[in-house]
Parts: sequence; C-alpha cells; structure tokens
Amino acid sequence: MTNVDAILASGLTALDAVTDLVELEQVKARFLGKSGELTGLLKQLGTLAPEERKSTGAIINQAKQAFEASHNARRDAINAQKLEQQLAAEALDVTLPGRGTSAGGLHPVTLTLERISALFASMGFAVADGPEIEDDFHNFQALNMPADHPARAMQDTFYVEGGDVLRTHTSPIQVRHMLTHGAPVKIIAPGRVYRVDSDATHSPMFHQMEGLWVEEGVSLADLKGVMTDFLRRFFERDDLQVRFRPSFFPFTEPSAEIDVLGDRGWLEVGGCGMVHPNVLQNVNIDPERYTGFAFGIGLDRFAMLRYGVNDLRLFFENDLNFLKQFN
Ligand code: PHE
Repeated sequence: MTNVDAILASGLTALDAVTDLVELEQVKARFLGKSGELTGLLKQLGTLAPEERKSTGAIINQAKQAFEASHNARRDAINAQKLEQQLAAEALDVTLPGRGTSAGGLHPVTLTLERISALFASMGFAVADGPEIEDDFHNFQALNMPADHPARAMQDTFYVEGGDVLRTHTSPIQVRHMLTHGAPVKIIAPGRVYRVDSDATHSPMFHQMEGLWVEEGVSLADLKGVMTDFLRRFFERDDLQVRFRPSFFPFTEPSAEIDVLGDRGWLEVGGCGMVHPNVLQNVNIDPERYTGFAFGIGLDRFAMLRYGVNDLRLFFENDLNFLKQFN
C-alpha cells in the first residue's frame, strides 16, 4: 500500500503528457480500468487486516478521486483546445466586403427590339410571332413567290430535310396572321431569320421585324407617315431625312427601300411597300375592299446604328466585355 503515492504521481504525470482524447482514455484504463494499477490496489484491500482496511481504502479512494479530477480537467482542456483550433481555422471575418455579383443586362438587340416595339405599340400595333422553321407556302408561295420565281434567289435559303426552310424573312408571319385573324390587322412581328450569308454586315442568322397594317383605306401616305414618324422617334431627331427609294418585292406593289440620312450618307434600314393584291387573295382577304402596307426592318442594323457598333458579328459572339457595356 505504500506505493499509492507513487502510482498516483505516475498517473498524474501520464495525464499531463496526454495530447488527445484517445490517449487520455488509454491512460485512464491503465490506472482505473479493470486491471488498472489503482484498481489493483483496491482489490488487494481484502488481504489487509480489518482495522487497516478502512484507512488504506480511504487513501486509495482519495488517490482515485485525485486521478479522476485531473483526468476531467485534462479532458476539458483538450476539448477547449480543439474548439479553439476549430474556431481559428473556420474564422469568418464578417467585416470583409463581399465578393459581389454583378447584375446582368439585356442584349443590345433585345434593348433595340424593346424600344422599337414600344414606339409601334404607341401607334396601335400589336405583336405577333411565328415559327423559325417554315414551309414553302408561308415563306414563299403565299407571298407571291411561286416555285421557280426568280425572286427566290434574292434570299439564299437554308433548307431543312423534308423541304421546309429556315425562314428567310419575317414576312411569313404576315401570312399566318392574316390567315388566322383576317382583316383588319395591325401588327409588328420580330424574330430570327436565316440566310446563307456571312461577313461584317451579314450573319447567317439575324433579326428582322415585320410590320403589317391592312385596313380599309390604308394608303402609301400612311406607310410613309408611320415609317418617318417611327424613324424620327427612334433616332431622336425631328429633322431626320427619310427616303423611300423605289424597289421590288414580289409581295408588295409598289415597293421601296427605306433609307435614312446619316453622317456618312444614306443608309438602308429596311424594305416596304403596299401589300400585293395577290397576297391578300392568298389569305382570303378581299383586295377590292382592303389595302395595306408592310415593311421589314433589320433589327441588328438598328442596334448597330443606335450603339455605334460597326461589326454585326459582335452581337452574336457573346463576349461579356462587349455585352457589359450595354448594362
Ligand atoms: N421581307 C423583305 C426582306 O426580307 C422585307 C420586306 C418586308 C419588304 C415587308 C417589303 C415588305 O427583304
């Protein structure tokens, strides 16, 4: 029994040296486990004389309590240290500024489309649309371009298997709308169109906006008035010079190209004309009763002019540094 102090001392030293909870439990087992050193002493109590048993038992129990107190203190210290390390490692400085997410913006062609749509809406035009894959009837035939009509060559067409086409213009939307709604109609119809063409000012996919107003009494004067008014408001110049240059489209008669006078001379911005009587007939509208005008403008061209962009391809490359400028 004389070695209680020595055993306790070596137990406390062992606890002091412990650095983690696994070791700590191993040391505890070595002294207080079933065959632990202090447990061993308690087992030997039975061999002592009864009068010695009580005092020796008290001494051993004191040692056991001292060991347990030290063990608990050590455990708390290790846990506290662990928590400390974790807090330091996962430190979050809530005073740091955030990384920031930049807001996206609309594409310049979309911005242009919205601006143009708003101007035509103010003149009473509704918005219509149609499919990008069209059949020959809507893209050509109903627009007074029968098979083998030479005017088909004006539009280098992408064909889809089965004879359908990627629409070469937004004019087939006129046909669809008049077939389903009859007259009167007053619509604009923006959308993607496709032609076999590619350079700085031509892209195989580009955007057009069709306009169509068919009603009793609509005249060429209305066409000139609406387009001139629209162009002056779009370019925000009351004195903008607008020119209607005689031209040809199979679906309008008479037909014209629309030019505006810019810093570097006349610029073509679209085509227009009075809806051809054959087209009205093709969509079951009486050409003796109704007249109308139609126009097709290049949305990308309008976006280029408004934002001073000189290469059409920039609109379709999706370079963020380019697009960000329009936010
Ligand atoms: N569809 C013609 C084109 O793409 C433009 C146009 C539309 C001309 C409506 C006249 C009337 O070239």
